[in-house]
Formats: sequence, C-alpha cells, structure tokens
Amino acid sequence: MPYENLDDEAVHQRTRAGQLPREAPDRLRLAAVDGRTLDDRGGDSAGDRGASNDDPSATGIVKPLPPELFVEHETNAEMRWDAMGDIGFHVPNDRFFVRNHTSTPIIDAATWRLRLHGTGLSAPRSFGYQELLAMPSVTRDVAIECAGNGRSLFTTQQHQEVTGTPWRLGGVGVARWRGVPLATVLERSGITADAVDVMARGLDPAYVADGVDYGRVRRPIPVAKALRDVILAYEMNGEPLPPDHGHPVRLIVPGWIGLASVKWVGDIEVSTSPLSSPWNTEFYRMFGDAYLPQGSAPLTTQGVRSAFELPWNATLVAGRPYLLRGRSWSGNGRIADVEVSLDDGATWQRAPLRGPHVASTWTRWQVTWKPAETGRYFLLARATDETGAVQPSHTTHNDFGYLFDAVVRHPVTVVSG
Ligand code: MTE
Repeated sequence: MPYENLDDEAVHQRTRAGQLPREAPDRLRLAAVDGRTLDDRGGDSAGDRGASNDDPSATGIVKPLPPELFVEHETNAEMRWDAMGDIGFHVPNDRFFVRNHTSTPIIDAATWRLRLHGTGLSAPRSFGYQELLAMPSVTRDVAIECAGNGRSLFTTQQHQEVTGTPWRLGGVGVARWRGVPLATVLERSGITADAVDVMARGLDPAYVADGVDYGRVRRPIPVAKALRDVILAYEMNGEPLPPDHGHPVRLIVPGWIGLASVKWVGDIEVSTSPLSSPWNTEFYRMFGDAYLPQGSAPLTTQGVRSAFELPWNATLVAGRPYLLRGRSWSGNGRIADVEVSLDDGATWQRAPLRGPHVASTWTRWQVTWKPAETGRYFLLARATDETGAVQPSHTTHNDFGYLFDAVVRHPVTVVSG
C-alpha cells in the first residue's frame, strides 16, 4: 500500500494558485544612495529616510504572500512548513520567509554603490554592482533563520510571556547564495591588521519603535567572522536577489542569527575599535530573570532545531501508513542524528537522514507511521549536531523570546477512516 503523502494534490493545487502572478504594489523607487549622504544614525542628511514608501500593502513586502504558503505577521511573512513537502532542498524564492524591520526598498542596481569606510581601512573605496559581479565569486547553500523563530512556542508550549513577532517555526529557509567573499572586498579596501569590527548597514527605512528612531538596520560582526565565510550575495537560487531578500546585495553570515545577514547593504564600516548599534546592545541579546540586568552577550550562532513538514493540527486517518518528513538544522555545524517520537516522548526511533547533509543548512529526514488508534497525538523530533549539542526539552525563558530550541510538540489528530 502506498504511503499517504501529506503533501498531497491539494497542496499542489494551492501552490499553483499561489504562484499566479500578482501585480507588485506600486512603490516609490529608492534613489541611488552611495552612503556619503547618510549620517551617523543611518538617516539621510537631507532629512529624507530614503526608502519611505506609500505602499498600501500592509506588510511592506513586494512579493505575493498567498495564505497557502505564508503566515503574515505585520511587516514579516512566515513560511508554512506544510507547504514544504513538495519542494526540494532549497526554498524557492517565492516561498522564502521575509523578515523586515520596516519595508522592502526598491533599489536600482545600476546606480547603487557599496561604500567601504572606517578607521580599519587603509584604502577606503566604493564598489558598483557590475564591479562586484566581475569579481571572483563563491556559491554556497546557507540557512537564514530569524533569532525569534519559534518564539510563539515559549507561550504555547512553555506557558511563558515573550514579546515580538509570534513566529512558529517558519522563520527559516535554505537557499543557494552566490556572491563575492566579504574578505575580498575588505582586502581590496585595505583592511588593517588592527581592525576589530565590521558593520554593514541596510538601505531600508529607519526603524522606529515606541517613538524611538533607531536608524537604519546595522549590526557589527567581528573581523575574524567577516573574513572567514561571510558572502556579499547578489544571487539567490540562481536569480538576482529579489527585492524582499536584499536586492541588489546582502550579507550572508553562515550559522549566525538572521539579523547578521544585513539586506540591501549600502555601506560597510570597518573599525579598529569595537562598534555597536541598538541591534547588539538593546535587541538580539537575552534579557530576563535568568540573565544579568545588562543582558547576555550579543547573540551570534543559532541553536539546534527541527520541524515536521506537516500542517499544525494535521488530520490523519487511523490504519493508513504515512511518510512523515521533516528537517533539522543547527548554527554550529552538520546535523549528526535525528530521533523522532510518535507518542509524546515515551519512545524514540532514529530517523534516517536523506539528501544533502552539510553545515549551515538543514538535513532532511523521514519516518513512517501507521497510527493504530484514533485520538490526539504529539509528534516530536530531536536533533543532535556534530558538536554534540542536542535539542533540550525546555528552553530557558528570555523576555524577547529568542533562540527557542526545545523539542517541539507537534499536534496531530488521528480519525477513523
Ligand atoms: N537587513 C535589513 N537591512 N533590514 C532588516 O529588517 N532583517 C534581518 C536580516 N537582514 C533585516 C535585514 C533579519 S532579523 C533576518 S531574520 C533576515 O534579514 C531575514 O532575511 P530574509 O527576509 O531574506 O528571509
């Protein structure tokens, strides 16, 4: 008897419908900004925030967001895991989650320039789009994941209060990125031996929350990481970066929280003294009872996580065999092992891993299940990475709900046939 595939024809039909082109909203075009007009706060010296837009779309996201593929959260769009069953290793561009602090700017690559500046450079300079395209490139599969991915589970699974976008597990995706190693651009700008921090800044509108203007999104990374494996990407899954994912150029910072992968990069500061921004002082560190008043160190790598490619509260039929698929990933390296429990943690079985199995991406796995009895079940997946880090049963609470890495209890209902 063939396995019941939960990514069935209904999903295919919904997907086809979702791929119907929808007219992109009319947006103001962002004039070319070469960084020199930007002041320290990330604002425009002329008082114009650059990418302001009068777009009527509530999210500020350009691409269509069919509800079969995405769950919208204000300026963000979460990928639906149940729509992943019919796709391969990479998440196609039209299905990739979007995390925007404000809104997607439309940037003209022909006039865009990337400006390198700061005390850590002996030959500060700028690069045009075509110049970057002509430089030696690298192509690499990398996962981008929001530090807040899984945040809603602090509340639904651990009954704790957190603030922020209530992602379930769809704030993650793997794509094939192509671009120039950040190291090459830094070396061509004369990075000095005593440089310590590198900070890219986006060209999206300044982030304003509770009346505070935090300026444009920017966040330092240490020089060692910047030189090791960071990519200035201009291609996503073989296409020029789509507007929502950073066109014309974004950073890809393997293994690190998604915030580090700054989109729509306009300038990069390299400094001989430590740099800071609200994104490594006020946000993206752990605060709460388990932490010192000043919070944890700024967040860097992602933890270990797993998800089933199943609808939340999926309905299955007793007595039928199912192929349950899922994916696990870690910011620390390759996934070494995945165990699955089909009885809320009472017993565990090893899930065979399938397909590519490389660091900074995810690993797919599958198990078969023929539920005998009707009722409500919780399906669990627990991954271990190559460093030995294993998903815990509980994540220590933090106020902003970052880095939820506990084993998720995925509810399903089994009905009679
Ligand atoms: N870069 C800029 N300029 N503005 C942003 O809002 N969001 C960050 C990062 N880079 C952001 C940004 C966060 S929090 C995440 S998780 C990733 O982009 C999301 O990338 P994606 O939208 O391509 O999935």
